[in-house]
Amino acid sequence: MSGFSRVNGHLTVDGLSLNDLADEFGTPLYVYSAAAITDAYHHFRDAVSGADSHIHFALKANSNLAVLKLLANLGAGADIVSGGEMERALAAGIAPENIIFSGVGKTDAELLAAMSIGIGQINAESPAEVDAIIRLATSHHHQCRVALRVNPNVDAKTHAKIATGKSDTKFGISMDECPGLYRRMAESGVITPAGLAVHIGSQIMTLEPFENAWHNLVDLAEDLRQSGLDVPGLDLGGGLGVDYATGQPAEVAAFGALVTRLFGNRKFSLGFEPGRWITAEAGALLTQVIYTKDAPSKQFVIVDGAMNDLIRPTLYEAYHRIEPVADHGAMAKKADIVGPVCETGDYLGLDRDMPELSTGDLLAVMSAGAYGAVMRSSYNTRPPAAEVLVIDGEAHLVSPRQSVADLLALDTIPAVLR
Ligand code: LLP
Repeated sequence: MSGFSRVNGHLTVDGLSLNDLADEFGTPLYVYSAAAITDAYHHFRDAVSGADSHIHFALKANSNLAVLKLLANLGAGADIVSGGEMERALAAGIAPENIIFSGVGKTDAELLAAMSIGIGQINAESPAEVDAIIRLATSHHHQCRVALRVNPNVDAKTHAKIATGKSDTKFGISMDECPGLYRRMAESGVITPAGLAVHIGSQIMTLEPFENAWHNLVDLAEDLRQSGLDVPGLDLGGGLGVDYATGQPAEVAAFGALVTRLFGNRKFSLGFEPGRWITAEAGALLTQVIYTKDAPSKQFVIVDGAMNDLIRPTLYEAYHRIEPVADHGAMAKKADIVGPVCETGDYLGLDRDMPELSTGDLLAVMSAGAYGAVMRSSYNTRPPAAEVLVIDGEAHLVSPRQSVADLLALDTIPAVLR
């Protein structure tokens, strides 16, 4: 089995001891299993193979270049949301035609850069963006493929901060506005309409929201076709979640069966933009206990990983399993696992069953391969966690730890202050 498992009681990744990795690379440290990412990618790909499906990995979930290169080698395209992510996708060897550019606020410079590399598709999210694309493509003599991202007004039943399918969010174009806008694209002379796109949110654990959104999307697409417009593709977005309590990803076979049921007999090329589902379970954040401290009502385990390394617990009240790396005896007490940052919100987990822990013990924060390292910062001038990718039983440092000097070098003191 690939990924994280206990061997003789000790937590390992693809046969390597997490203890040894911490010794070699230091903590806090993100560790990823290439085999687990590969397995997840294959499972997802196989599940949606009942239709003409294309997978564009959502870079925002994990954009380390080594992880991207691994996925590119497996055949994945990229879903990007910034010019920076475009550079990353290209640097990882993803062909421009396999890149989809999403996002509500693409600047002129980003749109032009995308057009000039011959990007596969731009998902436009507003009438103003369509205007900008037509203006830029006309003046720079580009022809580009554009899909409209529809806001299907569907509740994704997920955390409010990552739900994007309701009409009161900033995402997508209302169903009513789409037909006129789609025709405008088709008649512009510089846009080749690529179809419709939808993405209703992230960390979605049931199929109903997908089904509702995709129904709306396909109805709209069929209406457009009826009116004589060419609608070659439907980009069905990302969003399939993982169960953080158990480490089980959402049932992808059932997701695939829904895809086949809704689209198997229709002539659309389908796009998928999974992020979390591909990498979350393939990664963990390793952290070391600095001190333990007893308070009147609880124990604190103070570790060297903090909210600047993994912000999900405090930003989304997200739960990540936290496991002692060493073989451990009975759970001794409840503890809050907290970092050194000077905020009460700086925690990795609250009220957790923990064995007796002491300085130097290692903990692994699980399911951290998505939206972990990509969201780290150097808050409190803490050099953020490094990243290691394990490939075929060998550990590769894929994002070295910055030094404090590296961080200071980002600032300059104007001469007048010297
Ligand atoms: N496509 C689009 C247009 C998106 O906005 C997203 C995620 C995805 C695909 C990938 O969604 P996924 O398959 O990973 O659910 N930082 C948050 C998650 C933000 C997701 C934003 N959009 C977290 O840590 O939970």
